[in-house]
Amino acid sequence: MSSSRSFAARLMALLVVIGLVGCGAQTATEAPANAPASGAGAKTYSDMVLCYPQLGAESDWRTANTASIKETAATLGIKQLVFSDAQQKQENQISAVRACIQQGVDVIALPPVVEDGWDAVLTEAKNAGIPVIIVDRSVSADKSLYSTHIGSNMTLEGERAAAEFNKMMPDGGVILELSGTTGSGAAVGRAKGLRNKLNSNITILDSQTGNFTRAEAVPVMQALLKKYTPGKDFQGLFIHNDDMGIGAIEVLKAAGVKPGDLKIVSVDGTRGGFQAMVDGWFQADVECNPLLGPQVFELALKLMNGQPVDAEVLTDETVYYPENAAELLPTRKY
Ligand code: AHR
Repeated sequence: MSSSRSFAARLMALLVVIGLVGCGAQTATEAPANAPASGAGAKTYSDMVLCYPQLGAESDWRTANTASIKETAATLGIKQLVFSDAQQKQENQISAVRACIQQGVDVIALPPVVEDGWDAVLTEAKNAGIPVIIVDRSVSADKSLYSTHIGSNMTLEGERAAAEFNKMMPDGGVILELSGTTGSGAAVGRAKGLRNKLNSNITILDSQTGNFTRAEAVPVMQALLKKYTPGKDFQGLFIHNDDMGIGAIEVLKAAGVKPGDLKIVSVDGTRGGFQAMVDGWFQADVECNPLLGPQVFELALKLMNGQPVDAEVLTDETVYYPENAAELLPTRKY
């Protein structure tokens, strides 16, 4: 009796020791010393100084992206948002990043205007120990120079546009392309995706940049109409964003083109794009979602706490059509 009691007591003691060792090991694995996920020592949003050197204010998409960043910063109550507008100039963005490095911000979230030319400044951020999140468009720099990229799959957007033309032009045809900012990840990806998937019986007659703005798309479309007759020389238009699409519509209207005369596919899914579908001008609008604020700040907090993040975070997107554009228009946030 007494020997079985003492065996039970020894077994209990052993289980307690195993339990304690087990807990210790688990704690060490889940929260390494350099990654306080929560509790004492963990950094919170109220500690965060985040730098957002926005590339410009060229489109409704960009306005919505800026609003998403500013509103999320306010909602989360971060310590400071260092925001600037580079007016679509890479040199302005590089200066803004350097100023943020100088200030010693916690995280830089960079939406790069173009893909190339970032190596030097990203190396400076890395040497200063400041993690960088590439937001929206991609960069061609070595992946070791930044922590993660969050944004759309621009090549897939171009491929989705190609699929729309393939459906609408089963017997082939000719299209024009109104492209975004030359050298930008968005324009490069969309152009590549279109060419990847466009049926061989559909030809791209010409491609010109409108720099993602409504104002610049107007003279470009006017020049295209001087060279080519709608309907006769081309039957479709791929436009890299809704703002340029709206500029192009103004020109087409003035030239006597009617909604539906051309097959037009645009990108973004802004309210303006939805209105163009309601009015019969766009036959499809490939979504590109600018509301990245919540995910950007979540990634930034993880990085501030030394926690791992995925190397690439792609936005889940779709294609919108005129059939339900009127119904969805009032629900659009941008
Ligand atoms: O990089 C995203 C693109 O930039 C959007 O499609 C366009 O509207 C914006 O200017």
